[in-house]
Amino acid sequence: MSSLKFSTLLSNNGFMFTLKRSIASLSSLSETHQLLYKTCRDFAEGELKPNAAKFDREHLFPEKQIRQMGELGLMAISTPESLGGTGLDYLAYAIAMEEISRGCASAGVIMSVNNSLYLGPINKFGNAQQKEEFIRPFTNGENVGCFGLSEPGNGSDAGAASTMATKNESSWTLNGTKSWITNAHEAKASVVFATTDKSKKHKGISAFLVKTDNPGFSLGKKEDKLGIRGSSTSNLIFEDCSIPEKNLLGEPGLGFKIAMMTLDAGRIGIASQALGIAQASLDVAVEYATKRVAFGAPISKLQSIQNKIANMSLRLESARLLTWRAAVLKDEHKPFTKEAAMAKLAASESATFNSHQCIQILGGMGYVSDMPAERHYRDARITEIYEGTSEIQRLVIAGNVFKEYNLQ
Ligand code: CAA
Repeated sequence: MSSLKFSTLLSNNGFMFTLKRSIASLSSLSETHQLLYKTCRDFAEGELKPNAAKFDREHLFPEKQIRQMGELGLMAISTPESLGGTGLDYLAYAIAMEEISRGCASAGVIMSVNNSLYLGPINKFGNAQQKEEFIRPFTNGENVGCFGLSEPGNGSDAGAASTMATKNESSWTLNGTKSWITNAHEAKASVVFATTDKSKKHKGISAFLVKTDNPGFSLGKKEDKLGIRGSSTSNLIFEDCSIPEKNLLGEPGLGFKIAMMTLDAGRIGIASQALGIAQASLDVAVEYATKRVAFGAPISKLQSIQNKIANMSLRLESARLLTWRAAVLKDEHKPFTKEAAMAKLAASESATFNSHQCIQILGGMGYVSDMPAERHYRDARITEIYEGTSEIQRLVIAGNVFKEYNLQ
């Protein structure tokens, strides 16, 4: 439906608009990508940016906007059209994620989790019946999904899952707790990882599809977070939660690989979210610096401010190139684990750097909630933690570099 919307716009418009703000290499992107960029930019400007402070202040899930994003095809960008998705590539996803997150980082992570952590693995590993049941209703913004990997006792060490899944005659029984789950309070279903054979360590982990109205399933408290407060984060609790046998995703024991492959793709989404926050911080800093007068002239004339703007821009654009490279590699079905980790690392560090510098340029105005700078600073911080900390990204990068030298 939504890709139709894009193609209709394309043929009607002949793509005549001019982009006011250039993002790296945008002019060499396809018309579809540019149109998607403009659609997301307009939506972010009109619907997200004016409401982002309220979502943050009131810890409000942006329900109306997520539905609108569903109508635009943004909640299932790379899901095939045959399953109700938009059928675009991952580069499109990266571009859209950045623009949405520039408007509201909470809407960005809600979109990212639904697209890459929830729909992604079901599309890749699910059978036809699972796709019908767990993908189609999650493509149009009516429902969102979540991803249950981390636990209270293990985050970075994802292979140490202690949530258990026990096989019965025609069902599985889940017991355990998953933690730090984005979208937990709104999700209607989750991809959940649980140990089916503890003796096999990570090779004994399997993936399951669980509906959140399933008896034996409950939620923990809504976490009170530093940033991205428009998205909910909570524990998923399984107490003798019995799910049908057919809800096993992929083969038994394939869960860890499914999780790792899913996170490779997810990291492109979070990198793009971080780019959006970094860009938003640069936007605020540039606007303020050109308007704020000190020592008889706008502070943009001061070399110390220009240095900051240059450094922010450099970090942002280099991280964007890394992110788009990872997305293109994925689209070309080439290995992209290292590149996705590099993208996530560079983009999240550019988000924390840019939002820090933005506050420095704004001075006191950066420290109060009258301006969005302090929200960007708070929103940026998590991008260095979730979907693999910066330390884990360095570990993944180094591991792959050694592999390239045949040393591991
Ligand atoms: N793709 C496919 N397979 C992979 C892989 C990848 N990217 N990475 C590892 N594997 C495979 C390995 O080939 C290996 O396979 P074999 O057993 O067949 O040889 C197996 O997985 C184990 O690999 P490792 O020995 O490298 O695994 P490890 O236990 O040392 O862990 C790790 C590696 C990189 C540290 C991994 O545990 C990891 O990524 N940790 C971070 C987890 C994470 O990002 N969590 C975030 C959760 S989601 C979230 O943030 C919440 C949210 O809602 C946003």
